[in-house]
Amino acid sequence: MITQNTIQQIQSRIDVVEIVGSFVKLKKRGTNYLGLCPFHNEKTPSFTVSPTKEIYKCFGCGRSGNAISFLMEAEKYSYVEALRWLANKYNVEIEETETSPEYKQVQLAADSLYIINHFAQEYFSEQLLETENGQDIALSYLKERGFREDTIKKFQLGYNPEGRDQFTKAALAAQYNIDYLQKSGLVTVREGNQYDNYRGRIIFPIHNQSGKVLGFGARLIKNNDKAPKYINTPENEIYVKSKILYGSYFARQAIDKADECLLVEGYTDVISLHQAGIENVVASGGTSLTPDQLRLIKKYTNNLTIIYDGDGAGIKAALRGLDLALEESLQVKLVLIPDKEDPDSYVNKVGAAAFTNFIAENKKDFILFQLEIALQDAGNDSNKKAAVVNQVAETISKINKAEDFTKQQDYIKRCSELLKIEESGLHALVNKLIREKVNKEENKFSRQRTDEEPPLPDEFSTGATEALSLFNKDELHERAMIRSLLEFGMMEWEPGITVAAHMLKEIEDNNLEELIDNKELVRIIQTYFTWYKEGMEPTAKSFLYHDDLPMSALVVALMDFNYEISSKWKDNYEVIVLSRADLFKEEVHSTLNYLKLRKIKRLISQNQHDLESATKADDQMIFVQIHQHLKKMEIELTKQLGIVIFR
Ligand code: UTP
Ligand code: MN
Repeated sequence: MITQNTIQQIQSRIDVVEIVGSFVKLKKRGTNYLGLCPFHNEKTPSFTVSPTKEIYKCFGCGRSGNAISFLMEAEKYSYVEALRWLANKYNVEIEETETSPEYKQVQLAADSLYIINHFAQEYFSEQLLETENGQDIALSYLKERGFREDTIKKFQLGYNPEGRDQFTKAALAAQYNIDYLQKSGLVTVREGNQYDNYRGRIIFPIHNQSGKVLGFGARLIKNNDKAPKYINTPENEIYVKSKILYGSYFARQAIDKADECLLVEGYTDVISLHQAGIENVVASGGTSLTPDQLRLIKKYTNNLTIIYDGDGAGIKAALRGLDLALEESLQVKLVLIPDKEDPDSYVNKVGAAAFTNFIAENKKDFILFQLEIALQDAGNDSNKKAAVVNQVAETISKINKAEDFTKQQDYIKRCSELLKIEESGLHALVNKLIREKVNKEENKFSRQRTDEEPPLPDEFSTGATEALSLFNKDELHERAMIRSLLEFGMMEWEPGITVAAHMLKEIEDNNLEELIDNKELVRIIQTYFTWYKEGMEPTAKSFLYHDDLPMSALVVALMDFNYEISSKWKDNYEVIVLSRADLFKEEVHSTLNYLKLRKIKRLISQNQHDLESATKADDQMIFVQIHQHLKKMEIELTKQLGIVIFR
């Protein structure tokens, strides 16, 4: 864990303009900076960075945050990775707290597993290459399949002998712990007996980025129906399948050089292509691609070419990864290997040059490929065709990055041709889906903790005017109230009384939960007043780097840029533009009143309900009195409220 002290040092040095500016070209505009939003396509800049507020906000797509969340979004860093990046940039030395016992336990297990895997890899290689048995049974098999000895050595292939516990005995004799041996998947214990798990199998070690062995794939020498062809290492502290790409250690440099990554299904496909001189290859292990795997690829290249055998299963698995790849803005191409071959058998059959040619000539665009297949399936059924249109729009909408703008336009054009529909219609559909998606993500991020509530569109997420009409007025006022608390809390309400103190009293008189529905907003207020009562002078900035990320994101989303802009107007045009800061009393007053009024209206309707179900005359009398009392309050508040509308 990074210490609080280090985090504070980093935060104190953050210059949001500098950080964001190293990814986005920014121009000074008044007190703020303006640029093209990196999170959506736009031609006129609406991405605004405020150095004083230390935040950014895009008025086009609604994304907002601080320097740390910017790094998390733009670079796909975790919170800790973003902190480390900043520490490095600002030369802050990172202090770490004592690690927790649980963390130490995991660390210990990971270290032990690496050591055991290293031992096992060497043992299996020796069995394959140095023993008569290994050479006769396993090495001969590999050679027959065309693997050269230098290739076998490079990939550190091995053999686990057929005896039931030969490896286990060797490992125990070398003092390895049986619990970790089990965890590594190398040994199984059944009814008190220990067995080699991979007995009689060829061993494919699986390496991490730096060449350490994470686990193994173990292949039967002769296929049989009783046992699975491959057994793989079970998930453990170091073997996390969703993060592994087989062959990445050997392929890194070649991927970088070729600026393309070939993706195949199997271990043997990687090795055979590598042996043929095609080294920019990794394997997914026959399942659909995970976001972590795609991110790994994206570190080296934006060009992903998926090579699969023509049979159904592999293709389907690959297609499932498609949308994800688009979201990572990878350029995805697809090649099908013909005639029931797989890349391994095909390269062995036709040779490296012909294989490379085949790939180059048969690369198909993934989206168009998917569309062709879907159209064939749909035939003349117009319902099915409509579904295809929706599906294609959905896919195209996933390409939503500035750098891919032309690509998206191009797809809309080509797909509408294939579909024989109006280009503008597809365009509109795609845009609608993009907007919906941004809305959803926004809400996911800022409202993670209130699962039970339905998602609500953010006021900025679809461009101010359109969203406003969709927006729930009540929530708008709740937000407005908190915004005025954050911005004007320390200003004077009456001589000697701050706005915060005034609001605190109102809130305590009214019961917070009855005033504000949104639980996230309630949490912000509670945090604010906890700090306030401790003597702090909270502002929006106090929340900016709060380690409760959803809460800090919501505060950022609430923050306002406009009143800075309007004060600049004042200077330049010498007209009197009343800013929110000038009108803060009125704003505080009317937000509170609106919410109080809402509460009273609710009480009136509850009382009405009680009155209707009351049977005794005495009770009815009381409810009528309550009604009159509430009505009076309502009229009073309505009078005070006037007509104030908040954006
Ligand atoms: P394949 O069945 O295509 O095997 O599975 P392969 O890689 O071509 O192997 P050879 O050429 O027959 O020796 C593709 C990949 O799916 C995973 C493995 O990662 C394999 O490389 N797989 C397959 C399993 O994990 N378990 C299995 O039982 C089968
Ligand atoms: Mn194969």
